[in-house]
Amino acid sequence: MKVIVVKDYNEMSEKGAQIMKDVIKNNPECVLGLATGDTPIGMYNLLAEGYEKGELDFSKVRSVNLDEYYPLSPDNDQSYRYFMNKNLFDRINIDKANTNVPDGMAKDVEKSCAEYEAKIDAMGGIDIQVLGIGRNGHIGFNEPDSELVPTTHLTALTDSTIEANSRFFASENDVPKHAITMGIESVFKARKIIVVASGASKAEAIRATVCGNLSTNCPASLLRLHPDVTIICDEAAYSLCK
Ligand code: F6R
Repeated sequence: MKVIVVKDYNEMSEKGAQIMKDVIKNNPECVLGLATGDTPIGMYNLLAEGYEKGELDFSKVRSVNLDEYYPLSPDNDQSYRYFMNKNLFDRINIDKANTNVPDGMAKDVEKSCAEYEAKIDAMGGIDIQVLGIGRNGHIGFNEPDSELVPTTHLTALTDSTIEANSRFFASENDVPKHAITMGIESVFKARKIIVVASGASKAEAIRATVCGNLSTNCPASLLRLHPDVTIICDEAAYSLCK
């Protein structure tokens, strides 16, 4: 696992965007694994700028997102589909038909999860997976637990994640209690993974990921088993590693 410590959020975004740009330029038909949340927004802004400047072409790029609340309609402005359209897809020339987000309205969830996993395989895996990290060390919505479901599945959100994500909703009660998420095995199908983290609220999760023991109680620590993971974190997020 490679760790790059940068000064602040802006530098984190620049570094992350540079790695993504290199992947897209080297392979215009690449598959991007994408995350939502606050942390990657700066990176997505830089990718959109790269497109506006004529530096990047997304016409043949395909994407697969980590997770989606369940149940939640894609039209809901808190859905991750809505987030992706607003923060990236509507700002670049990606074909929406080539973008994939788990179905937050699936009737048969098990079938929908199996199809999502099969789709990742059919795309030939993921060229670069972007991950944020939860304050509790979750990746996607793989929450700390004694066991982790390996592939795409329905999961219950922990109280700490519901509380952390309530800032986006009218009240904590409005946060869906479940989500569909790629599993750790799905994430490991990516050939390259970058984890972006900023701020002191992520310091304990980064410490546990970078120098704690491997544990399903910190799902991100398992990333140390993947051959190509780069953590890009700012000084505040790295502060407990010293
Ligand atoms: C989002 C996701 C989550 C977030 C994590 C950090 O698709 O999978 O694991 O990456 O909760 O969220 P932020 O960036 O808002 O701190």
